[in-house]
Formats: sequence, C-alpha cells, structure tokens
Amino acid sequence: MFEELKTDRLIIRGLTTADAEAMHAYRSRQEVARFQSWQPQSLEQVIELIKRIKPENFNCDGEWYQVGITLKEDLKLIGDLGIQISSRDSRLAEVGITVHPQYQNKGYGREALSALLNLLLYKLGKHRVTASVDPRNLASMALMKRVGLRQEGHFIKSIWLKDTWVDDVIFAALKNDWPNSTFP
Ligand SMILES: CC(C)(COP(=O)(O)OP(=O)(O)OC[C@H]1O[C@@H](n2cnc3c(N)ncnc32)[C@H](O)[C@@H]1OP(=O)(O)O)[C@@H](O)C(=O)NCCC(=O)NCCS
Repeated sequence: MFEELKTDRLIIRGLTTADAEAMHAYRSRQEVARFQSWQPQSLEQVIELIKRIKPENFNCDGEWYQVGITLKEDLKLIGDLGIQISSRDSRLAEVGITVHPQYQNKGYGREALSALLNLLLYKLGKHRVTASVDPRNLASMALMKRVGLRQEGHFIKSIWLKDTWVDDVIFAALKNDWPNSTFP
C-alpha cells in the first residue's frame, strides 16, 4: 500500500478512477508523450490503467505502479510518478515522472521526484534507484541531474520508440551515497 507523501506544495497519493479525466487531459497530449512509450488513445485506457493498479502491489515485483502528484492548495492532479520494483531483485527500483505542461518549470517535478527518491532509498531501503531518459528530452535530463541522480550510462539507439531506435541515458542513485534526507 502506498502511503501518502507530503512536500511543501504537494501531496503524492494513490490514484483512483476519479482521477482519470485529469490524468487523460495531460497524458494524451503529444508534447507530454513525445519521449514516453505510453500515450492513452482514450479516457477508457486511462481508467483501465488506474484499475490495474492494486494497492497491495505497491513495493512488489515487476509491474509499473503509478501514483498521483496533487497540489496541496486545491488538491488538483498535476502529474504522476511511476515506480517499478525489479522482478529480478526487489532491492532495485526504477522511477518515471510526468507533469502537466501547465505546471511544468515551477519546481514541482523536482519536489515530487525528490520525495519519491527519499521514500525508496530511505524508508524502503532500496539499494539502487534508476531512471531511463531519452537524451533529447532536455527537461527530463535537467530534472534528473537537479534531484541528484548520477548519469551512469548512455546507450546508443537501444530502445525502439515510436517507430525508431532512440538513445537511452541511465541515471541512478545508491542508498549508501544518497545525501542526508529531510524525509519526515
Ligand atoms: C520532465 C518533467 C517531468 C520535468 O518536470 P518539471 O516540473 O517541469 O521540472 P522542474 O520544474 O522541477 O524542473 C527541474 C529542472 O529542470 C529544468 N528544466 C525544466 N524544463 C526544462 C527544459 N525544457 N529544458 C531545460 N531544462 C529544463 C528546470 O530549470 C529545473 O532546473 P533548475 O532547478 O536548476 O532550474 C516534465 O517536463 C514532463 O512531464 N515532461 C513530459 C513527460 C516526460 O517526458 N517525462 C519524463 C520521462 S523520463
């Protein structure tokens, strides 16, 4: 079960089907999906995705688990975070993040991703957390560096995305070298 995370301006919480419309509004946009493999073609696809998320599966192996990024001030859903615990070894996790374009460049991505990294590396004691970024995605490259992830590898044309081979940059953090946290 994912326990709500609070930051200065955000509440990060589990998603329900009541979030589907708000999630569809930003996830279906071309500029949001440009570097991502998932782009819903309908509201129903978002509802299906949310229904597949089982609270008991958080911190379990294999599947992507999405949680919502909401504003404290009006509880509006402005984005989502993805967490995938490795099916190979549950001490390894991968993360992803999406922020509604209207709310980008305001530090919300940094705030949300930092909170998630602290949860995974401190509270849940994961050994290593990674993020995979298309290097053409300058906003995401900047965000990963900003939250303190280390750029560890750059794989050339290693992912098939939208009918072409694209590069993949891997960012990572280890529990043992993660700076002191302010995790509540
Ligand atoms: C990547 C993304 C999550 C960033 O979210 P955000 O809320 O705009 O990020 P922040 O405002 O916290 O910015 C973090 C850093 O990135 C920088 N940044 C943001 N957009 C940028 C851009 N287009 N180009 C260069 N740097 C950028 C910011 O200046 C900031 O650095 P700073 O604190 O040193 O000034 C957002 O752009 C997004 O959702 N993109 C579409 C989905 C996507 O591609 N997700 C990533 C998949 S790996």
